[in-house]
Amino acid sequence: MKQFGITPKILEFEHCHEVGEHFQIGKGDLVFISDRTYEQHFKETISDQACRVNYRKYVTGEPTDEMVEAIFADIKDDHYNRVFGIGGGTILDVAKLFALKNNVPVVDLFNKELEIVKDKELILIPTTCGTGSEVTNISILELTAIHSKFGLAVDELYADYAVLIPELLNDLPMSVFATSSIDAFIHAIESYTSPKASAFSQLYSKKAMEMIITGYQTIADRGEEARKPLLNDFMIASTFAGIAFGNAGCAAVHAMSYPLGAVYHVPHGEANYSLFTEVYKTYQAIDPNGSIKELNIFLAGILGCEPAVVYQEIEKLLNHILTKKALRDYGVTKADLESFAAAVMTKQTRLMANNYVPLSQDQVLGIYKQLY
Ligand SMILES: [Fe+2]
Repeated sequence: MKQFGITPKILEFEHCHEVGEHFQIGKGDLVFISDRTYEQHFKETISDQACRVNYRKYVTGEPTDEMVEAIFADIKDDHYNRVFGIGGGTILDVAKLFALKNNVPVVDLFNKELEIVKDKELILIPTTCGTGSEVTNISILELTAIHSKFGLAVDELYADYAVLIPELLNDLPMSVFATSSIDAFIHAIESYTSPKASAFSQLYSKKAMEMIITGYQTIADRGEEARKPLLNDFMIASTFAGIAFGNAGCAAVHAMSYPLGAVYHVPHGEANYSLFTEVYKTYQAIDPNGSIKELNIFLAGILGCEPAVVYQEIEKLLNHILTKKALRDYGVTKADLESFAAAVMTKQTRLMANNYVPLSQDQVLGIYKQLY
């Protein structure tokens, strides 16, 4: 059986103040937002009566279970019935957990040892064009005990509203634009070749890939500033990609990027990019005749090249957006490769089940070695 759905209602606004007026954010609301985003965009519209959490106070890099527990300890006496997450994917993922009745100890929650009940309304507002978290039922945290990212995927984590405001992308630095939009592209491509993909999810995957690649072609031709008029397209494309992977799942590229992100603090989209083309070349070598064949023809059409060279051409194009590095450039050691491969096979089974073709530990290790 294949299943497809879009759970949150998707609201689009031109300006941030309209969101404030629509939702009347104040007493009884828990709002996750950075001080910077608050000062720049929401100061006039979020009342002082709201419980506002500046998540940057708790962590500088990727969010962890310990961070979530520290926030929970700080706000446990506040009563709230709506949760707003306004930020990049990591903070949306954290906000999702606060819409649940029981959320600590977080490790128990992620191991599904707590009863999972959603008892608050959840409104998610992305400020990057990458994760698609606003439309997925997944929360990803770094679990300190296992030194790796780990995902909880349950329907109780769906937002009630996904709110899109392209204005929020205006001051996104090029580096964040690059890593987040590459992440969205990889969501689209991994979900396209997932065994769980359906005609419906593939429609969203394809449109997202097309919007992102054509946007990158414009940026490659005209320079970084050319992204500014395209931000609305990138926000929509990342939500499309979120809908696609929320239904069909991400796979080996994400699974294999997690140890790199967790151990060497490589931004998520960048870590994905470092793995992406090699994983697809490996898929291609194992079985060139499944959905990857249609994918390559589709991508070749947008790129204007032969299907046989799409991954080389994509890499050329992506290198205009973000430079690809070897794993050793991040500080990865040869000894890490074995432990990364073992961690992928044991800790990322949720994602590895969505691979285009099954990958063995040796094949995973081979990809890491190729990229070392
Ligand atoms: Fe991702």
